[in-house]
Formats: sequence, C-alpha cells, structure tokens
Amino acid sequence: MVKLVDAPHSKCGTLGYVGSSPTAPTLMNTYSRFNITFKRGKGCWLWDKNGNKYLDAVSGIATCSLGHSNGALRRSLSKQLKKIQHVSNLYHIEEQTKLSEWLTENSCAEAAFFCNSGAEANEAAIKLIRKYGSKITNNKESIILAAESSFHGRTFAALSATGQPKYHQGFEPLLSGFKFFKYNDFESVKNIFEECEKSNQTIAGILIEPIQGEGGVIPGNKKFFKQLREICDQKNSLLIFDEVQSGVGRTGKMWGYENLDIEPDGFTLAKGLGGGHAIGALLVGKKANLFVPGDHASTFGGNPFACTAALTILNEIKRMNLLHNVLIEKHSDRRRVGYPR
Ligand SMILES: Cc1ncc(COP(=O)(O)O)c(C=O)c1O
Repeated sequence: MVKLVDAPHSKCGTLGYVGSSPTAPTLMNTYSRFNITFKRGKGCWLWDKNGNKYLDAVSGIATCSLGHSNGALRRSLSKQLKKIQHVSNLYHIEEQTKLSEWLTENSCAEAAFFCNSGAEANEAAIKLIRKYGSKITNNKESIILAAESSFHGRTFAALSATGQPKYHQGFEPLLSGFKFFKYNDFESVKNIFEECEKSNQTIAGILIEPIQGEGGVIPGNKKFFKQLREICDQKNSLLIFDEVQSGVGRTGKMWGYENLDIEPDGFTLAKGLGGGHAIGALLVGKKANLFVPGDHASTFGGNPFACTAALTILNEIKRMNLLHNVLIEKHSDRRRVGYPR
C-alpha cells in the first residue's frame, strides 16, 4: 500500500494547482492535487475511479482539442505505432514535413521547429530572439521585452520571460536581459524603448501572449498590438507571440493573432496542438527564419508519433468545422466577460 504525505496548500491560485490532497511520497511534491483520480474519458466527459461522471471544463489545461478518446486520433495513432514511432532528426521525417506544410500553409509562418512542450517552444523563441539580437545590435546589449503578469513556462529562459515575481522566488538569479511592460499599455512599451536607446541597449524582440491566460484571461487590445507591430518594424525588433494557450482554435480563429489584425514574426504552440500528446512548435516568418544546423535541437521534437497526433488534430478541426462552434461559444462568453469586439 502506498503511504501518503501531506502536500502544502499551493500559493498559486492558478487552475490546476489549487487542490490540497496528499501526494504519493514517491512523487516529488510539485503539485497540490485535487482528491480525484480519473480512470476514463470520452469526449468532454471524465469518470473517476469511483464511477463518478464529470464534465471536463479543464480539458487537460487547454490541451485535449478533440476531447478524450477521440476515434480519429485513436485510429491514426494506432496505425502510426504499427509503422514507426520515433527516429532521430538526423533523418528526414515525413510526418514532420507534412505537419510543417500544414502549419505554414494555414498561417503567416514559413517554417517550423518542433519540440515537446510550451516552455520548450518559448525557449526556442527566446534563443531565436537572442540570435536575431546578436545580428542587429552592433555590440550593444540585447534586450527582450515581455509583459507583466505574463506566463511563458517553467524552464529557465521561459521563467525569466514570465512577468510574475511569485514564480521567480527561490530561483534567482534568473537569465538577464529581460524587461517588462504593462500589457495593453503602449506608453509603457515606448518608455522602455526610449530608456534602452539612452543606455546603449537594443531591443531584439518582444515575446507576448495575444491573450494573457494566467494573467487573468486578458484579451489583447487591437490598437495596442498594432502599435507593437509598428514599433517592432520601426526599430527592427522581432515580434513573437506565445500562442501555447491561445493557438489551435481556442479563440474561434485557428491562431490567436487573427483576432488582432496583425501578423507576428513568429509564434509558439503546444497544448492543443497534440490533443493530449506532447508536442510544441516554434513557427517563424521570413524575418525570423534564422536558425542554422547546430543552433537548436530536440531529441524527441517532431517525431513521427507526435507529428501524426498534431496532423490528426489539425485535420479534424478543419473537417469538423470546429472553429465555427468555438466562435458561437465565444460570442456568448463575450457578453459575460466584456470581450472587446
Ligand atoms: C501562455 C503559455 N505559455 C507557455 C506555457 C508553458 O507550457 P508547458 O506547460 O507545455 O511547458 C503555458 C502553460 O500553461 C502557457 O499558458
């Protein structure tokens, strides 16, 4: 029998971390969990080990795009497992190429890098902005801007770009070279550009969520994002969106940036892309298509299994006309939370 220990109450009020049930001692104590163990899922329903039925409004935290135990996903992944599951990126991977083609044909991007999670996708984006900075800065210090109350993940660079001090505590020193502005407040962005110019620093890029998730579900303001696009063009900085939470149809459009009437130079994806299977991606347009062999890599990133999962999700979203339904839901949400039109 497993002996249980008490997990401390979470300091973080974020959905998914609020439980206080004891965690098994053989697991590191990183989550305060709800006292529920799910055994089975079908569509938007979950059943716990006592047979209780739940409506799954959490969706694996924005992840199970087609719900649980989806037939198309089950069939394509079973088929893929019988063919080939994993090979190194030292070889061509047909499923990966197909996925990159789907993503680039259906977005503003021209190329993709695949990894395994949202934090990793943002790590790739941060490295990319740094690389871009090293090309444009003329020996000035290269700075990345991110928003206060943002969330970009738990790895070190993603954490350093996360504008929430509570996540930094105990892990300092963080990566240097990040500055924070107020979300939806262009004055605050402009001030940092001016300060940096005065102190011989160059802003290589901005990393920002088109809708802040953890920050309190704050939709990006169209005027603000247009101004961000303009200043990035004027100052030759990259504008990269973190669409880990908002991408893959979750706002009624396939990509979060489509709600803002501008296009970023690149964007990151994870969560909903794999429908519950681990995959992340950095998508880039021409200005940001900078990586060369040796710059970045991932052992598992873009393997045949993960790419088949993502391709199935994307094809099914299209085939089922799912975005139309999301849009209807969004309009009813708009009335409740005052989403800007
Ligand atoms: C906007 C955003 N970026 C990045 C992440 C990190 O993703 P992952 O947990 O897959 O590393 C999250 C996770 O909640 C997120 O909401």
